[in-house]
Formats: sequence, C-alpha cells, structure tokens
Amino acid sequence: MKVLITAGPTREALDPVRYLSNRSSGKMGYALAEAARDAGHDVVLITGPVSLAAPDKVQVVRVESAEQMFEAVRTHLGDCDAAIFAAAVADYRPAEVAPQKIKKAADELVLRLVRTPDILGSARSVFGFAGVLVGFAAETTDLIVHAQEKCSRKSCDLIVANDVSQPGIGFDSSDNAVTLCFADGTVQPIAQASKMMIAREIMTVVERLQKHRDSGRS
Ligand code: PMT
Repeated sequence: MKVLITAGPTREALDPVRYLSNRSSGKMGYALAEAARDAGHDVVLITGPVSLAAPDKVQVVRVESAEQMFEAVRTHLGDCDAAIFAAAVADYRPAEVAPQKIKKAADELVLRLVRTPDILGSARSVFGFAGVLVGFAAETTDLIVHAQEKCSRKSCDLIVANDVSQPGIGFDSSDNAVTLCFADGTVQPIAQASKMMIAREIMTVVERLQKHRDSGRS
C-alpha cells in the first residue's frame, strides 16, 4: 500500500529572519516512514525542517510552513491508501509577515496570530480521503479524553496519543510511550520504547485497519 506520513515542526514566519516553531525533531515521523518502507510499502514523507537525514527509498517532500504542508498533503494524499499525521503543525501563525527585520524599539512587541489550516481535519472533509486515517495527539492533560474527541471530530480510524509532559518521551526524545485510541472507542497502550519499535507496532495496526477496510469493500 502507499502511505503518506507527515513529520517534524512547521515554521511560521514573523519577518525575514524570525519564525515561530516548536521542539519537534521529526524522529517519530521518520521512524514511521522507515517502518512503512521496511514493511514493503511505498512512502511519501512530507517533512518540516529537521536535522535528520532523509530515509532511503522514501519520497521526501520538504516544506516549511503549515500552509505549505497543507498544499503538499493536498497534492499527494489522493493516491495513498493510508495517511499518518505525526507532524507538529503550528496551530497559529503571525497575521502579518514583516517585509524587513523588525527593529527592536518599544519595550513590548505584541503579535497578532491567526489560525493555520487544520490538515488532519481536512483529510476527510476537504480532500475527500477515504483511506486509513491516523492522527496524533500531543497532550499534557486528559490524554485519552482529548484523543478520543479528536478521533471522532476528525473522522480518524486511529489517534496515537502521547503525553508530552512526561520526561524522556514525546518531543525530541529517542523513546515514546503512546496510547492507541481507535474509532470504536477501544484503547491500546504501548509502553515506553524506542520510536522505531513504536513505529513498527503502529504500522502493524495500520496494515490491519487497511485489510479490514479492503474486506469491507469486497
Ligand atoms: O518529532 P518528534 O520530536 O519525534 O516528536 C514526536 C511528536 C511529539 C511531535 C509526535 O509524537 C506528535 O505528538 N505529533 C503530533 C503533534 C501535534 O501537533 O499534536 P496536536 O494534538 O497539536 O495535533 C493533533 C493532530 O492534528 C496531529 O496529527 C497533527 O499532525 C495534526 N494537525 C495539527 C495542527 C494543524 N494545523 N494541522 C494538523 O494536521
């Protein structure tokens, strides 16, 4: 099957030299791309700016902003069987991008931020994606409740929930610990392990969801 994966942070420009971003390293998304490739699938990896080497035998599409990631997903999603949105996409961007470097003047600089496009939320409703849809949830409280709400609100088959307030997992860590929250309400914890191990388990679940979808069609 063909799998689309998003990874890494986005950068939302403030002026020609500054941007808003986050601590995503891309490790989780890149591990998913490698796990999908190693399982024999075709992979398109849409990645924000990270310092990781591009995985071999994977189609890599590099983007910077949430808007660019939205357009890249729109372009590539159509011929994919599954999509896994592991990227830490900025929810807001500066309403205006200053044409020149903002000079420091007043003691206070107030930024007006506006919403970025919700890429995961557009998969079904805007892009008409009918394949296996997997989102992530980076939460610091009420992990399962928030993840299950996200799963139904965005019509996902699965949300991979991670408590990013815990030390040693989540952003920029080699390990993660996740809870798989399925559309039918079942949850399946995966204890702390390397992102590669967790990625392999997620891919096994995605393959099972894909088979289930296919059998539903035949
Ligand atoms: O990259 P690493 O350093 O390895 O860290 C991994 C990770 C912590 C970034 C990863 O495990 C993770 O949790 N990724 C999702 C981070 C995130 O943005 O979570 P969220 O709850 O804010 O977003 C929910 C879902 O909507 C995610 O699938 C996200 O990709 C997607 N989203 C969010 C905002 C937006 N504008 N468009 C989106 O598609």
